[in-house]
Amino acid sequence: MKQFLPIPFGILLAVIACSSDTTEQQDLGLKPPSELALLMRDMTTYADSTRSLLMRGGAPLPFPKDHARMHTATATDDHLDRATFTAFADNYLAQLKVFNEAAPEDRKRTFNAVINACASCHNNVCPGPMVRIKKLYVPL
Ligand code: HEC
Repeated sequence: MKQFLPIPFGILLAVIACSSDTTEQQDLGLKPPSELALLMRDMTTYADSTRSLLMRGGAPLPFPKDHARMHTATATDDHLDRATFTAFADNYLAQLKVFNEAAPEDRKRTFNAVINACASCHNNVCPGPMVRIKKLYVPL
């Protein structure tokens, strides 16, 4: 039994570092939001606006080039596993490109694949915002 202890402990630390550090301490004004947290807020606004546009049958917004900054933006949790993060970030940026190049009839489906890419990373590195992310899927 003993040898299993370090793993759940590690997960617990990651969750604490991500959710309480980012949201609660920032809301209390104890810590300014990190570059990555600010970028994530912009990404959430972009996804929310795009969802509304698609529901009204509109076209995507201009390609959000700044989302690529997720590779270099500094995070609240400096123990973030970079290799894992980079793989999920590349997947997100690839889905974003597919969505932006999709034919009109494929836009909703490929947009939901972008939201899946948000969710995959969050399920692994930062589960706190999952409640918010689940609301971003566009009904098919
Ligand atoms: C490659 C991993 C990854 C992907 C992809 C990703 N996120 Fe994040 N997200 C993070 C990490 C890590 C944080 C914590 C940032 C920090 O506090 O420095 C975060 C933070 C957040 C936050 C909280 C920001 C705050 O105010 O503290 C929200 C909301 C969020 N992400 C939404 C999204 C949405 C929506 C998408 C897709 C459009 C997305 N994320 C894609 C890793 C990711």
